[in-house]
Amino acid sequence: MDKKKILVTGGLGFIGSHTTVELIKAGYNVVIIDDLSNSQLFILDNIEKICGSKPTFYQLDMSDKEKLSEFFAKEKSIDAVIHFAASKAVGESMQKPLKYFRNNLYSLINLLKSMEVNKIKNIVFSSSATVYGDPDELPVIENTPFKPALSAYGSTKQMGEEILQKVAATKVIDCIALRYFNPVGADSSALLGELPIGPPNNLMPFVTQAAAGIREQLVVFGNDYNTPDGTCVRDYIHVTDLAKAHVRSCDRLINNEVQNNYEVFNIGTGNGISVLQIIQAFEKYNNIKLDYTIGKRRPGDAPAIYADVSLANKVLGWKTELGLKEMVTSAWEWQKKVIHNILNT
Ligand code: UFG
Repeated sequence: MDKKKILVTGGLGFIGSHTTVELIKAGYNVVIIDDLSNSQLFILDNIEKICGSKPTFYQLDMSDKEKLSEFFAKEKSIDAVIHFAASKAVGESMQKPLKYFRNNLYSLINLLKSMEVNKIKNIVFSSSATVYGDPDELPVIENTPFKPALSAYGSTKQMGEEILQKVAATKVIDCIALRYFNPVGADSSALLGELPIGPPNNLMPFVTQAAAGIREQLVVFGNDYNTPDGTCVRDYIHVTDLAKAHVRSCDRLINNEVQNNYEVFNIGTGNGISVLQIIQAFEKYNNIKLDYTIGKRRPGDAPAIYADVSLANKVLGWKTELGLKEMVTSAWEWQKKVIHNILNT
């Protein structure tokens, strides 16, 4: 039987590259679109090193309608699209909201139009726990009401889901939206991982860069929250587990199992972990001491958020396999490997 073909937009990014590897391992054929705005070409070679085959790659910006049409005219018989390509820096989105609406929504609309024209039915959408804002109840379940988004980035994920839901209601597409909690860690080969440009905003890459001596001191953003140790609580998930949720979603879409054309799943571990617990786990499992200090709260941070993942466990038939130890050790292995390659530091 011919291999099914998956288009992965943003396929050289952090989650996209790990998902590409898991798709290839599961027997899918992958085509990647990426504009290289927040990723690097050597990741394509590393995917080949891990999988033994190189996905077809197109460098293009998804908000370029003409170029996207040319792409679809060339690449026929796509069975499903996984749409990662988007801007994701929460802080930047408050400074440059239009960049986020253009990159995250205009490109989604272009993609959906092209899918309609080319009769491609299946799409997996990268959504985010950010859609819940600061929730009233924990853990959040998929129908926990959305609170107002705390950033323009969050708005684009809420609006993206709404666009997809409305389009799916016309039966033109089948969609699975995955709400990611906090992806961390790296492929066990240490050939893929997170590659932030400039100083990282997110906790784990800051921790690894601080441990590597690239950043001066890690600052814990507040220890006066109403949480067990006073620091913020998140649901950290190993990126390889997250990648596998995409493979299961593609299987489900291609097997026509999606109910009423649209489904949404929380993708986390279900465990709330504090900033201090991440630091302690990193120190313990990597046998390394971190220099950190307690600073002020970061505006816009929800005190605590973690997922109820029972729906994904039951319906997607997916569950996490990797724990905190694998998250912090794989992130460190990757950091050690790229230590000399960090750009724009
Ligand atoms: N933190 C620090 N110091 C740092 C960086 C982060 O203490 O140097 C803290 C934050 O205050 C927060 C926690 O670590 O409490 C996690 O912060 P991240 O920036 O790593 O992650 P967020 O939970 O803020 O955001 C992440 C993704 C978003 C996504 C959101 C969904 O970055 O894309 O989860 O909740 F939308």
